[in-house]
Amino acid sequence: MEPPPPTDPRLDLVAGTIELCAGSIGFVRPRDATALLYEDEVDQAYPPYWAELWPSGVALAHAVSARARPGAAVLELGCGLGLPAIAAALGGARVLATDRSPDALTFTAVNAEHNGVAVQTAVCSWEEPDELLHRGPWDLVLAADVLYGQRNVDTLLALLPRLVARDGEAWIADPRRPLAGEFLRAARERWASVETAPGREADVDIHRLSRPLWW
Ligand SMILES: C[S@@+](CC[C@H](N)C(=O)[O-])C[C@H]1O[C@@H](n2cnc3c(N)ncnc32)[C@H](O)[C@@H]1O
Repeated sequence: MEPPPPTDPRLDLVAGTIELCAGSIGFVRPRDATALLYEDEVDQAYPPYWAELWPSGVALAHAVSARARPGAAVLELGCGLGLPAIAAALGGARVLATDRSPDALTFTAVNAEHNGVAVQTAVCSWEEPDELLHRGPWDLVLAADVLYGQRNVDTLLALLPRLVARDGEAWIADPRRPLAGEFLRAARERWASVETAPGREADVDIHRLSRPLWW
């Protein structure tokens, strides 16, 4: 007889694997992210988007794995389950994974350990980025599926150039959300180079923003 599912939906887990350019990442995540919507113990200030396996996170992890960056300072924003952060750490980078959800960081830390890499974590919202600015600038800033909502777009347009080193980059994976065009138009005024290439997952683009102009 199967044991009953845990009463806390965060502990009702499924395991998965994603393939990288070389090797793979194993991870666990909550089986049903929507079940978290009805859980009293979960922070209900925001939807539990962190708990989903989003195609953009998978595509960004794959893109990051194409080149090892030993010793590079890498920051992931809105990391969710932390797959791009783990891919960067597997390539030798020094990685800080951040999200406003403490639960996301618990899963990221467990997933990193499961893959035998060290990933630092910090609870941080983009609206209060002092710790991220203090610990920067970063050689590479990563974010997957974050261009939803005008507030996200406006906040990230202002924040990303301040986080990235003079010759650094920000890589944003996006599933062609409606606000991506507006984000890219405004980004071209703030970055020396903005390039877009298809990610490995269907309908996911990876936007590479290089050399912020404010330096
Ligand atoms: C759609 S999910 C994507 C998660 C992960 N990057 C992926 O692709 O699988 C968006 C993530 O951004 C985080 N997030 C949204 N707004 C944020 C904010 N203002 N500050 C920090 N994190 C935020 C959410 O908690 C969530 O983990």
